[in-house]
Amino acid sequence: MNANSKTSFLDKYIFLINKAIEEVEYPTSPPNLYEPYQYIMNLGGKRLRPLLALLSADIVANQPNKAIPVALAIEVFHNFSLVHDDIMDNADLRRNKPTVHTQWNTPVAILTGDVMLVDAFKHLLKIETHRIPEAIEFFSNIAIKVCEGQQLDMDFETQEEVTQEEYINMIRLKSAELIGASLALGALSVSNDINLRNLFYDIGIASGIAFQIQDDLLDSFGTQASVGKRIGGDILMGKKTILYINANQEIQNENIKREFLSLYSSKPNTLTKENEKISQILDIFSHYKVKLKAEELRDYYYNIAKSKIEELPKSELIQDFNDLIYSLVYREK
Ligand code: IPE
Ligand code: IPE
Ligand code: MG
Ligand code: MG
Ligand code: MG
Repeated sequence: MNANSKTSFLDKYIFLINKAIEEVEYPTSPPNLYEPYQYIMNLGGKRLRPLLALLSADIVANQPNKAIPVALAIEVFHNFSLVHDDIMDNADLRRNKPTVHTQWNTPVAILTGDVMLVDAFKHLLKIETHRIPEAIEFFSNIAIKVCEGQQLDMDFETQEEVTQEEYINMIRLKSAELIGASLALGALSVSNDINLRNLFYDIGIASGIAFQIQDDLLDSFGTQASVGKRIGGDILMGKKTILYINANQEIQNENIKREFLSLYSSKPNTLTKENEKISQILDIFSHYKVKLKAEELRDYYYNIAKSKIEELPKSELIQDFNDLIYSLVYREK
């Protein structure tokens, strides 16, 4: 493989995905239902999940095109989950633009999300007919897991003690399952081989866990311009990220611990106080070196993904696959 072949394979997929997303037709009425739908889809984002679906279909059967319906289903579902997630997380900014509930309002964002969730399934009907029932069953189970993860994420906001194991379970459900599904559904679009599909799924789960740990890291240590979200959003919401869990574990002094816990659960009511809370928590994070420990955990899951990739059948795309997983985990945006 050389640098040129790498660019051309990724470019080919990106072109196919962007074209498929652009060609989606939206009804015009009611505008307050479909404009926000189009708005969030056209804000782009990295479109990593469709990329993974096309790549697995290419590795399995040299037929990336056949994964376009599942790629669309997953990307629409992903965007639905973001529209609702931003309501739950009280987030004003996504992809450097106002979130749907900020640009319109919360009821509009709820209903737009609902229509997107239903619409996602309609894309699945475009795969080869005999594969449809299995795809729908698989996708439905994943969609349910995402909801379970999102509920746990919210439950943990008011729970002081969250173990690393509970955290990993929560991020697997809310984030990694959909990444596993992207790879598995790409394979399912072109093959009946369940073992191969499961291997892709496992690769997706491990890299998806690493991906969400990186997301937590970026939420505290990234830059708004690059990430496109408000830095410190997780801290403001009292999210039990891996950074919080590490800090809670590292702080031995009872008084400091009590202060940390009370500050972390506080709900500042002005912008100045919000920024104060974020900067104080970030100071504690850096004092207790919680970043390093989180990076080690991220790397641990990345390495699991990497070693599972080696179990895939030989293909000239494996190196590209490795590169893609690397760029997805070690992203800055
Ligand atoms: C954001 O996903 C939600 C998480 C699971 C962390 P992405 O980081 O893939 O978001 P976009 O689609 O590129 O904006
Ligand atoms: C989102 O996790 C997971 C889903 C949308 C299902 P986050 O809440 O961490 O995602 P961001 O940081 O808002 O993108
Ligand atoms: Mg969230
Ligand atoms: Mg969020
Ligand atoms: Mg996040």
